[in-house]
Amino acid sequence: MKKKSYDIKSGIMQKLTPPVLFLLLVVLLVNLVLYQFFSNVYFSYDQANIEPNSCSHGYFRLGILKNCLPWLSCEAMKREVRKLKLVGEGAVKRVFLSEWKENKVALSQLTKPQLEEDFIHGLQMLKSLQSKYVVKLFGYCEEEFMVLTEYHPFGSLNNLNDILNLPKYKNSNTWYNRFLLAIDYVSIIHYLHNSPLGTFVMCDSSDLDKVLSQYLLTSSFHVVVNDLDALPLVNKSAGQLIKCGHQELQGNFVAPEQLWPYGKTTPFADSLMPPYDEMTDIWKIPDVSNFLLGEVDGSDLVRFHLFDIHVACKKSPAERPSAQMVLDTYRKILASLVRESVMPRTKDML
Ligand SMILES: Nc1ncnc2c1ncn2[C@@H]1O[C@H](COP(=O)(O)OP(=O)(O)O)[C@@H](O)[C@H]1O
Ligand SMILES: *[C@@H]1O[C@H](CO)[C@@H](O)[C@H](O)[C@H]1NC(C)=O
Ligand SMILES: [Mg+2]
Repeated sequence: MKKKSYDIKSGIMQKLTPPVLFLLLVVLLVNLVLYQFFSNVYFSYDQANIEPNSCSHGYFRLGILKNCLPWLSCEAMKREVRKLKLVGEGAVKRVFLSEWKENKVALSQLTKPQLEEDFIHGLQMLKSLQSKYVVKLFGYCEEEFMVLTEYHPFGSLNNLNDILNLPKYKNSNTWYNRFLLAIDYVSIIHYLHNSPLGTFVMCDSSDLDKVLSQYLLTSSFHVVVNDLDALPLVNKSAGQLIKCGHQELQGNFVAPEQLWPYGKTTPFADSLMPPYDEMTDIWKIPDVSNFLLGEVDGSDLVRFHLFDIHVACKKSPAERPSAQMVLDTYRKILASLVRESVMPRTKDML
């Protein structure tokens, strides 16, 4: 009797084994497909973002369907651009929403003659670094210290919270979208550190508001860098380091190596101030990312996952991760968070 029931059981087991194995295989395959799908979601996001039909050097396109046109000259700008209203002002530039052939554009003008050099350096950088990371250049006039760029109605990154709190965009105010902005920001730092012209340091960055004011929020919720006036070049192989300006920097937003190292008793002297490298930008990443992540459902969970990489960003310059390492870590964490937030539901389905 005992033996028989055992036989029946094993018979059932033999019949059941193939379907169970089959089911397991299905579960495994579904997981694999989902994994592939979700790692592709963010990669395709990335690929869709690669220079969407950009023009060659010296040309620009307004809108999507139009042809590439050469950068506007002094004559064309003086003749065809009409200033509408002041939308921003920093130390170097006054920025006007303007009109060019019924298009909205941004016209930047020099504020005071003492800053001509910074203005021209910024223009030079804008010309050389045109890419998806940098605001689009439409024209310039060196003699008159004017630069024409794409107009971004959301303005600088300082406006992020105000924009995302508007009823129209409230639904976009998610940890996911805000994390994408942080990835955009780190991608820009990575681009500046690995540009075709060498390693540039974003020097106009002595406090959070200052940093944010150098970047613009596009209407498709991407970040572009706009103000490249203070962008010195580091050349490690030539032993060439940099300093951000000739004044003493203070506060705990700047990297420790940017502070005067000789104490309060020795007065600051630019000639005695040791130079440093692009790792000052890495030091500032956690603070900028924290702002970008904001206070929405899930942003603290993202912060928790970013904890280790952010601790590393605050180490001594040589121990800090490269922008590439920060970017890779951010992307990995985004992918794993997306997987985590979808998997529980797919488990229920199965
Ligand atoms: N293309 C633009 N579209 C919209 N706002 C802009 C644009 N360019 C600049 N602004 C606004 O003007 C401010 C100052 O511009 P910026 O180039 O940083 O000048 P500065 O070199 O004097 O710091 C920015 O912080 C931003 O608010
Ligand atoms: C860095 O310096 C080396 C040696 O002086 C030089 O050959 C190289 O062109 C420089 N690189 C950049 C990006 O300026
Ligand atoms: Mg600025």
